Amino acid sequence: MKKILTYIIILSSALISCSPADKKYIIGVSQCSEDIWREKQNAELRMGAYFQDNVELRFAAAYDSDERQVQQIDSLVATGIDLLIVAPNQVATISPAIDRAFDSGIPVIVFERKTNSQKYTAFISADNYEMGRVMGEYIVSRLQGQGTVLEIKGLAGSSPAIERHNGFMDALKNSPDIKVVGSLQGDWTEETAYEMTKQWLANNKDVRVDLVFGANDRTAMGARSAMKDVTTPLSHRRGAGGEAPLFCGIDGLPGENGGIQLVRDSLLDASYIYPTHGDQIIELAVNILEGKPYEKETMLMSALVTRDNAKVLLMESEEIMRQAVQLDGLHAKADGYLHELDTQRIVSWLAIGVVLLLIVVIVLFYLYHLRKITLQKERVVNTLWNMETHPQPLPEGMGEDTSTTDDQQESNSPPPSQEGDVGESEDEEPSVSLFITRFKEVVEARLDNSDVSVEDLAADMNLSRVQLYRKVKSITDASPVELLRTARLKRAYQMLLTTDMSVSEVAYAVGFTAPSYFTKCFKEEYGMVPGDVRK
Ligand code: FRU
Repeated sequence: MKKILTYIIILSSALISCSPADKKYIIGVSQCSEDIWREKQNAELRMGAYFQDNVELRFAAAYDSDERQVQQIDSLVATGIDLLIVAPNQVATISPAIDRAFDSGIPVIVFERKTNSQKYTAFISADNYEMGRVMGEYIVSRLQGQGTVLEIKGLAGSSPAIERHNGFMDALKNSPDIKVVGSLQGDWTEETAYEMTKQWLANNKDVRVDLVFGANDRTAMGARSAMKDVTTPLSHRRGAGGEAPLFCGIDGLPGENGGIQLVRDSLLDASYIYPTHGDQIIELAVNILEGKPYEKETMLMSALVTRDNAKVLLMESEEIMRQAVQLDGLHAKADGYLHELDTQRIVSWLAIGVVLLLIVVIVLFYLYHLRKITLQKERVVNTLWNMETHPQPLPEGMGEDTSTTDDQQESNSPPPSQEGDVGESEDEEPSVSLFITRFKEVVEARLDNSDVSVEDLAADMNLSRVQLYRKVKSITDASPVELLRTARLKRAYQMLLTTDMSVSEVAYAVGFTAPSYFTKCFKEEYGMVPGDVRK
């Protein structure tokens, strides 16, 4: 019973867990910062993971702190990630942690910002140098080859800041009349750009600024706020009419207050789309994890945003965002259905388990009942000849067998009929016990006679053959002939134990006419051949 239960439990749990056992990939994402550009990218990474149903993402954001990012990478690795996606805050400072991850066998995708180490599996980004260069060329043409530019750089030591600056400066090389009047060290944030610009304006009251180039849109907007707040003499401003300077940045995000909208609304003069492509990064990650071919270096395409295309770009990006939101909703729905399905599957298997269990219990109960009946009948048969020995432990819930006699305790008595005995004989009606006693005497008196018939036994008991048959059958469920044979075999068993007679002699002595038939019957009754009794 215990074994069956264990089997059912194992089977059920195996079936329950039989959902396609794809390997689940855990991907760690270490973001150097947290801002609207990264938010968009994280959303895309999540979206990319939706399409791969075996990917789990673990995010960490270092809020521009090298120390924090190093710690976060180490702990992501410690949680057992399968792959690391990392945007390193600065070129040199994060490398040791990335190298550690790579050396421990974890594939590493460096994205968007570079390190000074070669220990990475793949790199994916837009071309920051090209962005700076194109923006420089745009500025030259916007200012018609003449004017002043204030540059606010990105975080020192971060590769996009270095590359954007280099590209920008290279673009100005052939335009000697474009003067960079200041190159301020920003850190990608609007707040720092605001403070730096304010301070610069205070220190450079007489310097005219035609255009501000911020290394990203937030920086350009910070400078813009500062310029608005500081009242500068008209002579320091752009154009004969003293118009406010132009502001250019990089990122060109879609959505509310994103760079594209800022250009459309003329708060920025131009921006450059810095692609986020989180879904593409996940695709790359899965290709690496699944051993599929992948590009080691991927350059993402990008484009300048100006007043001419901002409106169209905004419309397009809004459409894409709308679809993304819908997709998100669909995914949430599908997730809900899958969850429901999972629950239903578990409930179904549990129900199947319960039904199986019930069937087993019913079958066992039925077998137990059958056995109980058989034992009861055997007991009656045994009682007839007072031959039971070694009373077997009774099945639970049944009374003790008190019907054995002293004779039955002797070790040389025949064993109880195969399965053991059940005693309830003391409860029998007196007429039944009288009948049994009498029948026993009659049978025992004729035991050695092979010719004895049921008619003979019936006549001995002053009954008709049919009466005897019915009575015996109703008490023992066996026929008189079967009882006669049982009695013969029991006597034979005793004789084999207590005499030196041969098997054949015993067979004849208990009324069998053929020793081979005796052996066959004996084997059926005791599960062994007569010769085995003496072994
Ligand atoms: C976002 C951001 C962007 C910028 C990029 C440079 O965290 O600051 O605004 O273009 O990082 O890595």
